[in-house]
Amino acid sequence: MTTSLEAEETDPWFNPLDPSVLADPYPVYRRLRENHPVYWHSRIESWILTRHTDCVNILRDTDLFSADFRRIGIPTPPTLLSLQTLDPPDQTPLRHLALDAVRAQDMDALRAELADYADVLLDELGERESFDFIRDFADAFTLKTITRFLGTEPPTTGESFDQYNNDLDHSMDAQLDPDATEPGLRAREHFNSLVRSWLADPPGGGVLGYVAEHLDGSGVANDDVLVNSTRAFFHAGFEVPSRFIGNAVKALLTTPGAWESVAGGQAPLDTAIEELLRYVGPVQALARACTTDTEVGGHKIRAGEVVTTLLGAANRDPLQFADPETLRLDRKPNPHISFGRGSHSCLGLNLARIEARVALSALLRRPQLRITGAPVVRPNGTLRGLSELPVTLAR
Ligand code: HEM
Repeated sequence: MTTSLEAEETDPWFNPLDPSVLADPYPVYRRLRENHPVYWHSRIESWILTRHTDCVNILRDTDLFSADFRRIGIPTPPTLLSLQTLDPPDQTPLRHLALDAVRAQDMDALRAELADYADVLLDELGERESFDFIRDFADAFTLKTITRFLGTEPPTTGESFDQYNNDLDHSMDAQLDPDATEPGLRAREHFNSLVRSWLADPPGGGVLGYVAEHLDGSGVANDDVLVNSTRAFFHAGFEVPSRFIGNAVKALLTTPGAWESVAGGQAPLDTAIEELLRYVGPVQALARACTTDTEVGGHKIRAGEVVTTLLGAANRDPLQFADPETLRLDRKPNPHISFGRGSHSCLGLNLARIEARVALSALLRRPQLRITGAPVVRPNGTLRGLSELPVTLAR
């Protein structure tokens, strides 16, 4: 059985921030999964897991693989303490309150409103010779969606909003680039002030309205952890679906026959969306802290070590998916793990599926959509996406 100390000797350096890996991480994921499925990354000091079964087992077991790094002696800055960094039972009241708030929303009404919004936005963009699909459509659409879901208005956007957003995204790669930590904390503080203003004067409806009405008696304290959790909900709620919609549209427009097959109904849209989540899901990596010595795939993982599950690699594991490197829009079943698993799995997965469906339906009704310039990949390893996708709707 190999420990991290012995495994270090055979470390084939894998740099998720290398431009070629950012552009296409899947060949490296494949190489890791085939040759080093349980791989000790000595530079980021973490085990890297690429097999579907290993990733699912780890994400499901918060006793052994905790989201709370304080359990292995790594301090969590107060701004980061949220439902994402607490394990059950501490996390449970927050998670239940959030789940109840999500379930209380009228999704049919939301779906209809979003469909109108997508059409209005695309009609406007169709007047231009070309536009940036990411900034002008995906970001605008998902920000509108999450604020409507929360029950509030979209904040003012612009350069400083984009900068905070980029800093927060970049800080998710802080294990690879420690300089990203401080700007990431400042960005979170900035978004926290926005969230505090919402919580101080909550709307009558939406998720925020529900939380304000049901906080007493929920077991959730009205404190910074609630603010941080609301921020995490807000940020995950626009940034991640925007990256997904961008990745999905690029994959549909650049894979021969894919757009036509969904537009023509040969591949049902819901099934196609699950396959796009598998194939180009934005969240690449989730880290956990090992709390007790254990064994995974013949390697000894020691208490105190960090374990990183690579979702993008697990989603292309041939033991789970036939022909995994191919986009098969009618793939069924599709047990991808793009929304994670276990007690931290995505709270917004229904909303994410609805908004992807609304956005893609509106786009598919405009078959003239095409790419007009080179897509620009974001410099983020953990949250994979594009910063620019020039397109046109002009006939
Ligand atoms: C395509 C879109 C999305 C993808 C691929 C995605 C993916 C994920 C993943 C992989 C996790 C697990 C994190 C972990 O285990 O540490 C997660 C958690 C979470 N997501 Fe999403 N997400 C999406 C959209 C959304 C939306 C729209 C919202 C809000 C409405 C949202 C809110 C959250 C929250 C609050 C968590 C933390 C849950 C917890 O730790 O208990 N996500 N998401």
